Amino acid sequence: MQAQLSALLAQARTEFAALRTRPEFEAAKARLVGPNGSFTALMKQMGTVPKDQRPALGRLFNEAKAQLQGLFDLTLRALEDAEISAQLGPPVDASLPSPDGGPGTWHPLTQVREEMCRILHQVGFVVADGPEVETEFYCFDALNTPVDHPAREATDTFYFPDGTRFANVSRRVEGEKYLLRTHTSTVQIRTMLQHPPPVRIVSPGRTFRRDTTDATHSANFHQLECLYVDRDVTVRDLKALLDYIFAALLGPDTKTRFRPHYFGYTEPSFEVDLSARHLPKVRKDWIEIGGCGMVDPAVFEAVGYDPGVWTGYAFGMGLERLAMMLYGIDDIRYFYQNDLRFLKQFA
Ligand code: DAH
Repeated sequence: MQAQLSALLAQARTEFAALRTRPEFEAAKARLVGPNGSFTALMKQMGTVPKDQRPALGRLFNEAKAQLQGLFDLTLRALEDAEISAQLGPPVDASLPSPDGGPGTWHPLTQVREEMCRILHQVGFVVADGPEVETEFYCFDALNTPVDHPAREATDTFYFPDGTRFANVSRRVEGEKYLLRTHTSTVQIRTMLQHPPPVRIVSPGRTFRRDTTDATHSANFHQLECLYVDRDVTVRDLKALLDYIFAALLGPDTKTRFRPHYFGYTEPSFEVDLSARHLPKVRKDWIEIGGCGMVDPAVFEAVGYDPGVWTGYAFGMGLERLAMMLYGIDDIRYFYQNDLRFLKQFA
């Protein structure tokens, strides 16, 4: 019986080393130690052995059992390891640099912003910057926007709670609120307070309004603002510049149109529409792109320029809308989703 036991163990070792799957393992285990297993059958024969030999044989069986258990554990662990390795795939050296994603490209909004700034730079405009966190003075008061103007309401503007402090944005007026700028017109004020006229600036940047997001609205969007202050500036200069920059960006078939409007900081004021039917996906004859006008004397007074001497024009436009027209993009949300399938189309 001892010889039978050794043979059985040796055979089990060879058999278990060749197992590849759990079902195979379970079946092999059952063939050994299951109710009809070969090891079980051998154990049952213990009863037929003379009494005096039983203790020694019992010890042998216990040893064999322990060896079998060890074999089962080992095999099961090997099978589990193989399963995990299969799931992990080929080995990876985590210390290697990640695969080269190729050269990056500019975001479509950046492309339009840079191209507009380049066009404006060629006709003498320099880039001016301003903070995204602003105060009521720069965003509204100095721009001749009365306290009861709808744009100032909390439903349109993101105000910071009273007591919020921004060390790098100083208040002009005691107790005025901090807010996220609703337009880039704030940079007109900041520039004029710092520099004497003449002024010729372009200021692109991020702006914020409490808009519900949909295909054409986003609470966070971008504008591009221009301000020109000199002697004897007229609406003709304004219209000529807008005609020039939009034709340069969108092509010579582009037309601009002024519609009378009201802005507190310009007089007269206009909304600007673009006609660019030559662009893909432009289906409307006229698309509103921004606002403009001749700088209101009240604004010059707020920044200490003499309105009897200085004249100027200003305009602001939405960069997303311009990029959507230029590239035929029909949903503003694509700009902010960082989806490479979208971004790669502008490489
Ligand atoms: N700030 C305006 C807006 O966000 C756009 C605008 C209108 C800018 C007239 C100007 C301007 O500089 O003169 O809708």
